[in-house]
Amino acid sequence: MSSNTYNTEKIIKAPKSRLIGKNIIIREVVESTSSFLKDALTRGEVSSGTIAVANIQTKGYGRFKRKWVSPRGGIYLSFLIKRFKRDIAPLTLVIAYSVANSLQYLTGIKPNLKWPNDILVNDKKIGGVLAELVGDNLVCGVGVNINTEQSALPEEIKERATSLFIETGKKFDITDALLNLIQGIDKNLVIYKNKGFSYFRDRWLSLCPRWHDIIYPKIGQEKTVHLFHDISETGALIIVDENGEKRLFSGEISYE
Ligand code: BTN
Repeated sequence: MSSNTYNTEKIIKAPKSRLIGKNIIIREVVESTSSFLKDALTRGEVSSGTIAVANIQTKGYGRFKRKWVSPRGGIYLSFLIKRFKRDIAPLTLVIAYSVANSLQYLTGIKPNLKWPNDILVNDKKIGGVLAELVGDNLVCGVGVNINTEQSALPEEIKERATSLFIETGKKFDITDALLNLIQGIDKNLVIYKNKGFSYFRDRWLSLCPRWHDIIYPKIGQEKTVHLFHDISETGALIIVDENGEKRLFSGEISYE
Protein backbone atom coordinates (compact mmCIF):
# COMPACT_ATOMS: atom_id res chain seq x y z
CA MET A 1 0.00 0.00 0.00
CA SER A 2 1.31 3.47 -0.78
CA SER A 3 1.91 5.86 2.07
CA ASN A 4 3.34 9.34 2.14
CA THR A 5 4.58 9.26 5.73
CA TYR A 6 7.56 7.27 6.97
CA ASN A 7 6.96 4.08 8.91
CA THR A 8 9.56 4.57 11.65
CA GLU A 9 9.33 1.01 12.97
CA LYS A 10 9.94 -0.51 9.54
CA ILE A 11 12.93 1.78 9.00
CA ILE A 12 14.45 0.89 12.37
CA LYS A 13 13.95 -2.86 11.78
CA ALA A 14 15.39 -2.81 8.24
CA PRO A 15 18.70 -4.68 7.70
CA LYS A 16 21.58 -2.43 8.58
CA SER A 17 23.75 -1.03 5.85
CA ARG A 18 27.55 -0.94 6.02
CA LEU A 19 28.72 2.64 5.70
CA ILE A 20 25.59 4.69 6.26
CA GLY A 21 22.30 4.12 8.03
CA LYS A 22 23.20 2.43 11.32
CA ASN A 23 21.59 5.48 12.85
CA ILE A 24 18.60 7.03 11.06
CA ILE A 25 17.01 10.18 12.50
CA ILE A 26 13.47 10.70 11.22
CA ARG A 27 11.69 14.04 11.64
CA GLU A 28 8.28 15.27 10.50
CA VAL A 29 9.51 18.75 9.56
CA VAL A 30 12.99 20.29 9.50
CA GLU A 31 14.37 23.36 7.79
CA SER A 32 16.79 21.15 5.86
CA THR A 33 18.11 17.66 6.59
CA SER A 34 21.59 18.86 5.57
CA SER A 35 21.55 21.86 7.94
CA PHE A 36 20.10 19.57 10.62
CA LEU A 37 23.09 17.20 10.28
CA LYS A 38 25.61 20.04 10.11
CA ASP A 39 24.22 21.54 13.33
CA ALA A 40 24.24 18.15 15.07
CA LEU A 41 27.82 17.61 13.87
CA THR A 42 28.90 20.96 15.31
CA ARG A 43 27.37 19.97 18.65
CA GLY A 44 29.22 16.62 18.48
CA GLU A 45 25.94 14.70 18.60
CA VAL A 46 26.18 12.46 15.52
CA SER A 47 28.36 9.55 14.53
CA SER A 48 29.70 8.82 11.08
CA GLY A 49 27.09 7.13 8.87
CA THR A 50 24.12 8.92 10.46
CA ILE A 51 21.24 9.65 8.10
CA ALA A 52 18.68 12.41 8.67
CA VAL A 53 15.32 12.10 6.91
CA ALA A 54 12.27 14.37 6.99
CA ASN A 55 8.77 14.25 5.55
CA ILE A 56 8.86 17.99 4.87
CA GLN A 57 11.63 20.59 4.61
CA THR A 58 10.85 24.29 5.05
CA LYS A 59 14.25 25.57 3.87
CA GLY A 60 15.54 22.81 1.62
CA TYR A 61 18.37 24.04 -0.58
CA GLY A 62 20.30 22.86 -3.59
CA ARG A 63 23.42 23.93 -5.45
CA PHE A 64 24.09 27.66 -5.64
CA LYS A 65 21.81 27.99 -2.56
CA ARG A 66 18.75 27.52 -4.77
CA LYS A 67 15.53 26.62 -2.98
CA TRP A 68 14.67 22.91 -3.02
CA VAL A 69 10.89 22.71 -2.82
CA SER A 70 10.15 19.96 -0.29
CA PRO A 71 6.46 19.14 0.27
CA ARG A 72 5.32 15.84 1.82
CA GLY A 73 5.67 12.99 -0.64
CA GLY A 74 9.30 13.52 -1.58
CA ILE A 75 12.41 11.87 -0.14
CA TYR A 76 14.70 14.35 1.63
CA LEU A 77 17.71 12.71 3.21
CA SER A 78 21.22 13.68 4.19
CA PHE A 79 24.02 11.44 5.38
CA LEU A 80 27.24 12.13 7.22
CA ILE A 81 30.61 10.51 6.66
CA LYS A 82 33.26 11.74 9.04
CA ARG A 83 36.86 12.16 7.89
CA PHE A 84 35.89 11.64 4.26
CA LYS A 85 39.04 10.67 2.38
CA ARG A 86 37.89 10.79 -1.24
CA ASP A 87 37.02 13.56 -3.71
CA ILE A 88 33.48 14.92 -3.51
CA ALA A 89 33.12 15.64 -7.26
CA PRO A 90 33.02 11.95 -8.28
CA LEU A 91 31.09 11.13 -5.08
CA THR A 92 28.28 13.38 -6.34
CA LEU A 93 28.17 11.38 -9.59
CA VAL A 94 28.16 8.08 -7.69
CA ILE A 95 25.22 9.17 -5.53
CA ALA A 96 23.24 10.50 -8.52
CA TYR A 97 23.88 7.16 -10.27
CA SER A 98 22.58 5.34 -7.16
CA VAL A 99 19.40 7.45 -7.17
CA ALA A 100 18.81 6.70 -10.87
CA ASN A 101 19.27 2.96 -10.23
CA SER A 102 16.86 3.00 -7.35
CA LEU A 103 14.19 4.86 -9.37
CA GLN A 104 14.63 2.36 -12.20
CA TYR A 105 14.18 -0.50 -9.73
CA LEU A 106 10.96 1.06 -8.40
CA THR A 107 9.35 1.94 -11.73
CA GLY A 108 11.15 0.28 -14.65
CA ILE A 109 11.74 3.78 -16.04
CA LYS A 110 15.39 4.46 -16.87
CA PRO A 111 16.26 7.98 -15.65
CA ASN A 112 18.97 10.09 -17.26
CA LEU A 113 21.86 11.77 -15.51
CA LYS A 114 23.00 15.31 -16.16
CA TRP A 115 26.44 16.40 -14.96
CA PRO A 116 27.10 16.97 -12.19
CA ASN A 117 24.17 16.24 -9.90
CA ASP A 118 20.83 16.04 -11.71
CA ILE A 119 18.57 13.03 -12.13
CA LEU A 120 16.09 13.53 -14.97
CA VAL A 121 13.03 11.74 -16.29
CA ASN A 122 11.62 12.88 -19.64
CA ASP A 123 14.11 15.76 -19.59
CA LYS A 124 12.67 17.07 -16.31
CA LYS A 125 14.43 17.10 -12.97
CA ILE A 126 13.21 14.45 -10.55
CA GLY A 127 16.11 14.47 -8.11
CA GLY A 128 19.32 16.19 -7.11
CA VAL A 129 22.41 15.61 -4.98
CA LEU A 130 24.35 18.15 -2.97
CA ALA A 131 27.67 17.08 -1.41
CA GLU A 132 29.20 19.52 1.07
CA LEU A 133 32.34 19.37 3.18
CA VAL A 134 32.33 20.59 6.76
CA GLY A 135 36.04 20.48 7.57
CA ASP A 136 36.91 16.97 6.44
CA ASN A 137 33.39 15.65 7.09
CA LEU A 138 31.02 14.97 4.22
CA VAL A 139 27.36 15.95 4.46
CA CYS A 140 25.58 14.70 1.36
CA GLY A 141 21.94 15.62 0.70
CA VAL A 142 19.63 13.83 -1.69
CA GLY A 143 16.20 15.06 -2.77
CA VAL A 144 13.86 12.97 -4.92
CA ASN A 145 10.29 13.78 -5.95
CA ILE A 146 8.35 10.57 -5.40
CA ASN A 147 4.62 11.11 -4.79
CA THR A 148 4.79 14.86 -5.36
CA GLU A 149 1.73 16.16 -7.20
CA GLN A 150 1.98 18.73 -9.96
CA SER A 151 -0.08 21.16 -7.87
CA ALA A 152 2.55 21.05 -5.10
CA LEU A 153 5.24 22.38 -7.45
CA PRO A 154 5.61 26.16 -7.69
CA GLU A 155 4.69 27.70 -11.06
CA GLU A 156 8.29 28.66 -11.86
CA ILE A 157 9.57 25.06 -11.79
CA LYS A 158 6.50 23.20 -13.12
CA GLU A 159 7.96 23.10 -16.63
CA ARG A 160 11.32 21.76 -15.46
CA ALA A 161 10.46 19.42 -12.57
CA THR A 162 8.70 16.10 -12.29
CA SER A 163 8.01 13.25 -9.85
CA LEU A 164 7.45 9.50 -10.05
CA PHE A 165 3.73 10.15 -9.52
CA ILE A 166 3.58 12.70 -12.35
CA GLU A 167 5.42 10.29 -14.67
CA THR A 168 3.59 7.05 -13.80
CA GLY A 169 0.25 8.09 -12.28
CA LYS A 170 1.10 5.73 -9.39
CA LYS A 171 1.78 6.46 -5.74
CA PHE A 172 4.70 4.68 -4.07
CA ASP A 173 5.28 3.63 -0.49
CA ILE A 174 7.70 6.29 0.69
CA THR A 175 9.26 3.99 3.32
CA ASP A 176 10.03 1.24 0.80
CA ALA A 177 11.40 3.83 -1.62
CA LEU A 178 13.61 5.31 1.11
CA LEU A 179 14.96 1.93 2.24
CA ASN A 180 15.73 0.89 -1.33
CA LEU A 181 17.53 4.18 -1.92
CA ILE A 182 19.58 3.93 1.27
CA GLN A 183 20.63 0.35 0.45
CA GLY A 184 21.65 1.36 -3.08
CA ILE A 185 23.65 4.37 -1.91
CA ASP A 186 25.34 2.32 0.80
CA LYS A 187 26.29 -0.47 -1.62
CA ASN A 188 27.78 2.03 -4.06
CA LEU A 189 29.63 3.91 -1.32
CA VAL A 190 31.35 0.65 -0.37
CA ILE A 191 32.30 0.05 -4.02
CA TYR A 192 33.48 3.66 -4.37
CA LYS A 193 35.60 3.29 -1.24
CA ASN A 194 37.21 0.07 -2.50
CA LYS A 195 37.42 0.60 -6.26
CA GLY A 196 37.20 4.36 -6.79
CA PHE A 197 35.28 6.17 -9.51
CA SER A 198 36.59 3.99 -12.37
CA TYR A 199 33.93 1.36 -11.54
CA PHE A 200 31.19 3.97 -12.08
CA ARG A 201 32.49 6.06 -14.97
CA ASP A 202 31.04 3.98 -17.84
CA ARG A 203 27.90 3.20 -15.87
CA TRP A 204 27.30 6.89 -15.25
CA LEU A 205 27.95 7.73 -18.92
CA SER A 206 25.53 5.02 -20.06
CA LEU A 207 22.75 7.02 -18.37
CA CYS A 208 23.80 10.29 -19.99
CA PRO A 209 22.31 10.64 -23.50
CA ARG A 210 24.31 13.82 -24.19
CA TRP A 211 27.69 12.06 -24.10
CA HIS A 212 29.51 12.91 -27.39
CA ASP A 213 26.87 15.54 -28.14
CA ILE A 214 26.78 19.34 -28.06
CA ILE A 215 26.21 20.91 -24.64
CA TYR A 216 26.21 24.49 -23.37
CA PRO A 217 28.43 24.86 -20.28
CA LYS A 218 28.35 28.14 -18.38
CA ILE A 219 31.94 29.36 -18.04
CA GLY A 220 32.12 32.46 -15.88
CA GLN A 221 29.00 34.37 -16.87
CA GLU A 222 29.09 33.11 -20.43
CA LYS A 223 27.06 30.33 -22.03
CA THR A 224 29.48 28.44 -24.28
CA VAL A 225 29.10 25.72 -26.93
CA HIS A 226 31.17 22.56 -26.51
CA LEU A 227 31.25 18.88 -27.30
CA PHE A 228 30.74 16.66 -24.25
CA HIS A 229 33.82 14.47 -24.63
CA ASP A 230 34.17 12.53 -21.39
CA ILE A 231 34.13 12.39 -17.60
CA SER A 232 37.56 12.17 -15.95
CA GLU A 233 38.63 9.88 -13.11
CA THR A 234 38.18 12.88 -10.80
CA GLY A 235 34.59 13.48 -11.91
CA ALA A 236 35.49 16.49 -14.09
CA LEU A 237 33.49 17.18 -17.23
CA ILE A 238 35.83 17.06 -20.24
CA ILE A 239 34.62 19.36 -22.99
CA VAL A 240 36.10 20.25 -26.37
CA ASP A 241 35.76 23.17 -28.78
CA GLU A 242 37.93 24.58 -31.60
CA ASN A 243 40.38 25.88 -28.97
CA GLY A 244 40.97 22.41 -27.49
CA GLU A 245 40.02 20.54 -24.36
CA LYS A 246 38.84 21.92 -21.01
CA ARG A 247 38.02 20.26 -17.70
CA LEU A 248 35.22 21.61 -15.54
CA PHE A 249 35.34 20.54 -11.91
CA SER A 250 32.09 22.21 -10.93
CA GLY A 251 29.54 24.39 -12.65
CA GLU A 252 26.47 24.14 -14.70
CA ILE A 253 25.57 22.97 -18.18
CA SER A 254 22.44 23.30 -20.25
CA TYR A 255 21.26 21.26 -23.20
CA GLU A 256 19.88 24.06 -25.36
C1 BTN B 1 20.42 20.25 -6.38
O1 BTN B 1 19.86 19.67 -7.32
O2 BTN B 1 20.84 21.41 -6.48
C2 BTN B 1 20.63 19.48 -5.10
C3 BTN B 1 19.35 19.31 -4.33
C4 BTN B 1 19.57 18.65 -3.00
C5 BTN B 1 18.31 18.66 -2.15
C6 BTN B 1 18.47 17.81 -0.92
S1 BTN B 1 16.93 17.48 -0.14
C7 BTN B 1 17.77 16.81 1.23
C8 BTN B 1 18.94 17.72 1.51
N1 BTN B 1 18.52 18.85 2.30
C9 BTN B 1 18.64 20.00 1.64
O3 BTN B 1 18.32 21.12 2.09
N2 BTN B 1 19.12 19.78 0.42
C10 BTN B 1 19.35 18.39 0.19
